[in-house]
Amino acid sequence: MTRASQAPDILSPEFAANPYPSYHIMLEDAPLSWHEGMQSYLVSRYEDVSRAFKEAVYTTDNYGWQLEPAHGRTILQMSGREHSIRRALVAPAFRGNELDQKFRPVIERNSRELIDTFRAQGSVDLVEDYARHFPINVIVDMLGLDQSDHERFQVWYTAIIGFLSNLSQDPEVAAAGVRTREELAAYLIPIIQERRENPGDDLLSALCAAEVDGTTMSDEDIKAFCSLLLAAGGETTDKAIGSLFKNLLEHPEQLAAVRADRSLVPKAFAETLRYTPPVHMIMRQPAEDIEIAGRTVPAGSTVTCLIGAANRDPRRFAHADSFDIFRDDLPTDTAFSAAANHLSFALGRHFCVGALLAKTEIEVGVNQLLDAMPDLRLEDGFTPTEKGVFTRGPASLPVRFTPS
Ligand code: HEM
Repeated sequence: MTRASQAPDILSPEFAANPYPSYHIMLEDAPLSWHEGMQSYLVSRYEDVSRAFKEAVYTTDNYGWQLEPAHGRTILQMSGREHSIRRALVAPAFRGNELDQKFRPVIERNSRELIDTFRAQGSVDLVEDYARHFPINVIVDMLGLDQSDHERFQVWYTAIIGFLSNLSQDPEVAAAGVRTREELAAYLIPIIQERRENPGDDLLSALCAAEVDGTTMSDEDIKAFCSLLLAAGGETTDKAIGSLFKNLLEHPEQLAAVRADRSLVPKAFAETLRYTPPVHMIMRQPAEDIEIAGRTVPAGSTVTCLIGAANRDPRRFAHADSFDIFRDDLPTDTAFSAAANHLSFALGRHFCVGALLAKTEIEVGVNQLLDAMPDLRLEDGFTPTEKGVFTRGPASLPVRFTPS
């Protein structure tokens, strides 16, 4: 039996408990393998995963079955000119002045409101009571939707992520995703129509008015994009905040360094993205036969790119299994752009459009949390564990601190 065939299966409980030993075996002995249950090739090495993200032959047609039934058609599955126009319609809201002047105050307020619910208590679960809510609250607020609907959005986004990560094709999870598409449309389309009549100073109104080269977004386009935002911007940033605090709490000397010098927050975020990426795998569908790791993968196959493995490829990163915010092979000035050398926001045309929004949320959130909890420490005797195979982060993170 080869070492590769002894690696815990990607759909097994052992893998879910700790995927890194399997990633290591794949990186060394099986850089390309076929997974019968997922009907997909698995690709683990940095060089192969980054090529898959950058080269146009690796299409995103997979999102037609992986996401469209739950979201509708979104920019993730578009390519060429259609994709670049759609991206140009939505991208301005997530960078530069729009982000800094209009949305930073929204981010600061939403973080503060959550922290105010527990700052006097002296204990909190950072995942359950902060990370799970913060990014969704921000998006709902940016879109100008009703604050009292936050809980409904939580339910919808959990169902959408369930659909996307349904590697074992559970029919109930699939049905909940499709139901969400209908519920979200019934909720959002009337609001979009109302915003067209009475525009406000919010992201939804901006999307209604956006125009590039004579192209505008239909009600269905906007609804699908909002649905994508909930999943792409909620689940990911949620996991990133939880993982960043888990990593720092497990490395108290690095936590002390970040607390003393807040300019290290982006470094801690970049290293968290590399070491414990919120999204562990992304799929692609090559349009032609391609060669990966010396073997031919036929056109139309599904290729699962293992970001969690590639970010720990020893060919690319020194002491890849150590969390080290001071590492010199992960430049922070490019870490939140398409020139990043970790793969957690992907690369190329579909590079995460919300990377700078995520960075702003993390900077604001981490700074406010460190200010509110000067002596933050894990609950006595608690050892954090991670949850999730497709997306992954700490299951919970109970901490103690002196109340303020
Ligand atoms: C730490 C946080 C985040 C991570 C790790 C992350 C990760 C990713 C990844 C891996 C992709 C590429 C998917 C692919 O190529 O198939 C992506 C795309 C995307 N992300 Fe993010 N994301 C984060 C935050 C956000 C936020 C805050 C937003 C917006 C609210 C957002 C919106 C999007 C959108 C719209 C796309 C599609 C871009 C396109 O197809 O051109 N993301 N993200």
